[in-house]
Amino acid sequence: MKILGIETSCDETAIAILECEGNPQSAKFRILGNALLSQIEIHKEYGGVFPALAKREHAKNLVPILEAALEEAELLHEDTQVIPEETRAKISEILAREPGLAESFFDFVSECEPPEIDAIAVTAGPGLEPALWVGINFAKALALVWKKPLVAVNHMEGHVIAALASGNHIAPVSGENDASVALAGRHHAAPLRGDHGDVSALAQNKNETLAIKNIEMPILALLISGGHTELVLMKNWLEYELVGQTRDDAVGEAFDKVARMLELPYPGGPEISRLAEAARSESSETMFKLPRPMIDSATCDFSFAGLKTAVLYLLKTQTDLHAREKQHIAHEFENAVTDVLWKKTARALEETRARTLVIGGGVSANTHIRRVFKEKVEEKFPEVALSIPSAALTTDNAIMIALAGFYHAEHREFVTDIIADGNLTLAQ
Ligand code: KG4
Ligand code: ZN
Repeated sequence: MKILGIETSCDETAIAILECEGNPQSAKFRILGNALLSQIEIHKEYGGVFPALAKREHAKNLVPILEAALEEAELLHEDTQVIPEETRAKISEILAREPGLAESFFDFVSECEPPEIDAIAVTAGPGLEPALWVGINFAKALALVWKKPLVAVNHMEGHVIAALASGNHIAPVSGENDASVALAGRHHAAPLRGDHGDVSALAQNKNETLAIKNIEMPILALLISGGHTELVLMKNWLEYELVGQTRDDAVGEAFDKVARMLELPYPGGPEISRLAEAARSESSETMFKLPRPMIDSATCDFSFAGLKTAVLYLLKTQTDLHAREKQHIAHEFENAVTDVLWKKTARALEETRARTLVIGGGVSANTHIRRVFKEKVEEKFPEVALSIPSAALTTDNAIMIALAGFYHAEHREFVTDIIADGNLTLAQ
């Protein structure tokens, strides 16, 4: 089964096409095409993602991204298509709120054959609603014109499945397909096509193989991203129970806010990580001490607002903020976050007796968190299998949406309409 996945929940416009084989318990996926355009450079000057701008950029870039992904998958075949008037009218209505998208959409689909794909999967939430709507409307229009079934995907489920699939890695088809190199360097990726100079694609991912096999239930997922910090238990495939969550800020949000206090560019996570690693390479000692909020509380819930405020107060006591102080604050902040994340995850592992631990979401790209979790799981929970996504699949992408889409397509959970839900949850 070939699935085309579309992701526009935040500041990445991404489309991927996967060839999926097997069943939900034992499946193999080949990446046929994968194109992604990050808007980070555009949002940088606002110090965060600006929703109206994200929406406009998605609308501008979806067609070139689609073209790049299809071309990479060798599924783009030129042919003049006559679009029935009734279909055209419906699509015009669906795309009416996305400036310029209907025009580029019709130009594209009237010049290529419907590709040989079996379903279209799109992120329905959580995320920024204006951004989500663009992807949803685009997916609906494609489903209509190409007569393909449509599935709605929860973005966080995408992170879970991506971690399971890439954490149980089987060797890439070609030695050149080092996914971690491919996506880590995504902001500098080469233009794929001369006629869309601004579209970058991750051709390096092509033909990489991912697999899900021998996964023991229950699965505990620690989801850490810009908008989420939660521990979720999966006892059966695609059935989730909430074990713990943040009571205030998400971890990624705390990284981004602390980075802003340290006058580091957006997104702050990678910047803090870079400074912290530099400090750590010199000494494990930190000049400052920050709190570990709720670390000993008898719940699996988190709180990061106090940690962020503690950094703010600490900065007020610093008359000069030089590179050295920034490094030490980043180091101590990252240690504090990691201590809390680990302690709560360990508590949840004990309480749920999970057999598999998954870490997903943008913050799971963090080198220190990945290292500490690997060490601690091995030492304290040797019976638990740890699945951390390959670096390539940690931050938002469309491969994870197509992966989760496969599960819903296998269950024949097809839909004709999708409502964007910025607060969509996996479990209550
Ligand atoms: O999952 P994601 O790409 O988007 C959301 O769905 O939110 O996560 C983005 C978040 C941002 O807050 C970013 O600062 C954080 O992930 N992040 C990191 C790292 N890379 C990205 N945080 C800590 N260390 C990193 N290396
Ligand atoms: Zn995400």
